[in-house]
Amino acid sequence: MSKKKRIAIFASGNGSNFEAIAQACLKNRINAEVALCVCDHPGAYVTERAKKLEIPVLELRPKSFSSKEEYERKILSELKKEEVEFIALAGYMRIIGPVLLKEYEQRIINIHPSLLPSFPGVDAIGQALKYGVKVFGVTVHYVDETLDGGEIISQAAIPYDGNDREELEAMIHAREHVLFISSLKTLLN
Ligand code: GAR
Repeated sequence: MSKKKRIAIFASGNGSNFEAIAQACLKNRINAEVALCVCDHPGAYVTERAKKLEIPVLELRPKSFSSKEEYERKILSELKKEEVEFIALAGYMRIIGPVLLKEYEQRIINIHPSLLPSFPGVDAIGQALKYGVKVFGVTVHYVDETLDGGEIISQAAIPYDGNDREELEAMIHAREHVLFISSLKTLLN
């Protein structure tokens, strides 16, 4: 197999997708090494997960930068230092700007808990429940300058006719982990 790709995972919160990808890399299921965890919420649980796995963490407060451009330039310089070739957004609740998009064109992917283009943005699961859909789902897609837009790579449908948000979230997260890993495998192996 070819040399392992160095990837960065961007996350804002819990980090269950981060953990699933990092473990899959450690077990050589994905031909990649997680070189950096980028987190825009210092202290978020994902940073603990990363530290336990001895993955370097970059914790930044976007508000402490004078602009989005300056914030992304800082991230870019750290990505370069770590020789990162590919980026996975795993619950990173921020739109990627031109600085990173230009440098990593077609090399940034995102996971979203809906069948896009339905329910982009924050709380996709809540939006779908409120709408009353009976088929939920998850999408992995390339990232462009739009909110949860960009070319779709893979999707999985999850039929669900109940009203228990916790149960539904557990089903969606479990499916996310599988779909994200298989998509990364296809793209990087
Ligand atoms: C995931 O459900 C992911 O799809 C979603 O955030 C959650 C993060 O969970 N992302 C978006 O909504 C992006 N618009 P995790 O922190 O446990 O991986």
